[in-house]
Amino acid sequence: MGEERSITVAVTGASGACYAQRLLQLLDASPRVRQINLLISENGRRVFAEELDVDIPHPLNPEVADRLGLSRHKLVCFQLNDLGAPISSGSYPVDGMVIVPCSVGTLGAIATGATTNLIHRAADVMLKEGRRLILVVRETPLNAIHLQNMLTLRQLGAVILPAMPAFYHRPRTIEDLVKHFVYRILDHLGIEHPQETMWRGGRAWT
Ligand SMILES: Cc1cc2nc3c(=O)[nH]c(=O)nc-3n(C[C@H](O)[C@H](O)[C@H](O)COP(=O)(O)O)c2cc1C
Repeated sequence: MGEERSITVAVTGASGACYAQRLLQLLDASPRVRQINLLISENGRRVFAEELDVDIPHPLNPEVADRLGLSRHKLVCFQLNDLGAPISSGSYPVDGMVIVPCSVGTLGAIATGATTNLIHRAADVMLKEGRRLILVVRETPLNAIHLQNMLTLRQLGAVILPAMPAFYHRPRTIEDLVKHFVYRILDHLGIEHPQETMWRGGRAWT
């Protein structure tokens, strides 16, 4: 068993709050995770309310944590305007950061280095410190600015993991789709999970 990790999860105003909820639950349950640093943008809250019917207060109160299926004992919630928070500094140990879902607005801010909130700053720190940064970008269709921003961040070492669920594992429910996609995020964080995500060849075509 390796070291326990501290992971930052940022939720922004793109569609796909269900991915964030499931990721938080799995990190919360993982013995490999010691701390979850949680950041939610204004529009992240809006999308949570629209898609999951959950109004997220700051800090997360026990009732809402319960509704989200979170125990809260690992969660550290940060305000978006608190640029003096520990995760604003490279000296603070954070092992990985996931922005899920990631709007193209947040993608653009990080790609240009225009850090106007703590999500942008924390991501900037991950890049400058050479730590793992995963962006679950969600938008369709994509214009040239979005594509260029993704290329820029990939070239800087970020993992671009667009919210594109797969079907090769034959999902039967939306929950199957969401879980399989979130397990792929955990694969990129190097955190073990209960489900086989490796494609082993399937049917042999002759
Ligand atoms: C219900 C809803 C769904 C949205 N879906 C997306 C989306 O899928 N992708 C995206 O880039 N922006 C989406 N937006 C727009 C963003 O929320 C908006 O651009 C916002 O400024 C992003 O700010 P943030 O990155 O700080 O959260 C959506 C907005 C709402 C209200």
